[in-house]
Amino acid sequence: MDLNTQIKISTDPIFNKVSKVIPEIEWKIHAPLIHKINKLKKEKNAVILAHNYQTPEIYHGIADFAADSLALAIEASKTSADIIIMCGVHFMAETAKLMSPNKKVLLPDMDAGCSLSSSITGEDVRLLKKKYPGVPVVSYVNTSADVKAETDVCCTSANAIKVVESLGVKKVIFLPDEYLAKYVASNTKVEIISWKGTCIVHEKFTAKEINEIKKLNPGIVVIAHPECPPDVIKASDFAGSTTGMSEYVKKNQPKQVMMVTECSMSDNVQVENPKVDFIKPCNLCPYMKKITLPKILDCLENETNEIIIPENLLEKAKLSVEKMTFIGR
Ligand code: 13P
Ligand code: SF4
Repeated sequence: MDLNTQIKISTDPIFNKVSKVIPEIEWKIHAPLIHKINKLKKEKNAVILAHNYQTPEIYHGIADFAADSLALAIEASKTSADIIIMCGVHFMAETAKLMSPNKKVLLPDMDAGCSLSSSITGEDVRLLKKKYPGVPVVSYVNTSADVKAETDVCCTSANAIKVVESLGVKKVIFLPDEYLAKYVASNTKVEIISWKGTCIVHEKFTAKEINEIKKLNPGIVVIAHPECPPDVIKASDFAGSTTGMSEYVKKNQPKQVMMVTECSMSDNVQVENPKVDFIKPCNLCPYMKKITLPKILDCLENETNEIIIPENLLEKAKLSVEKMTFIGR
């Protein structure tokens, strides 16, 4: 069978699924890459983990597992693959390495950062611990291994309140997302000492914008990520992690919905919920968008961009992520 026929056979079923969100002209470029990546990952016993913000050709075309950051961390600890390709950002690849230190973890673009992760260093946490002696540190998983090594327990947006309350204390240092800290503080009696990090994607949404869309689309259901400013969450009908948002749509099948989050999320969820009408005022994450099919293929072929964590950080940082996965969702 010639190569074009092989590509057609292996990728046509995927295109049938995503044709509502990927134009045919673009698919012609994606299809040969998808075919090659899917073949090569089997030959190399590699697994492709993708975050919910990855583009539909990655999410639906090549990912073996696509989810929120909590589920990606758990999946990384369970996989029997030799190589993990993380289609997400640097802290997600680092977290996968912490959960599977003996595996080769590759990130297709090492510049796929995160504004929250770069807002704080391990040294900042050491200073905070001096300022508030004895107060436990809860860090969002959107942090570097350096910060995680100074952390008592990590959390994600899926379990932040549960993690904070699990400590059984009156006060915690909660890093680095100021808005997620406010969201947690409004849902618990535990006193929260926060940092001033923000997500450059979610901080851009405004309550005014949400209310205008609600006025123009009576009955629309608005669901937001907890990294949004508090007034945006207040103007929304539901707040949850990316998987929490996607499950909300799956379960409730609203007639019309708006996901107040990164752009690809609505496209990916729309494919899985064809009867739901999505209104899509969204913001792009420039870091998530650094991951593309050509970069994934290159990384898989040449096994480049390996995540290495210094020994002195690994054990301590791993502990804080493991504690989070034991607490669960
Ligand atoms: P989730 O943990 O909800 O997937 O969010 C990760 C993230 O980077 C959101 O901006
Ligand atoms: Fe970081 Fe925000 Fe991008 Fe998520 S969406 S990776 S929090 S910058």
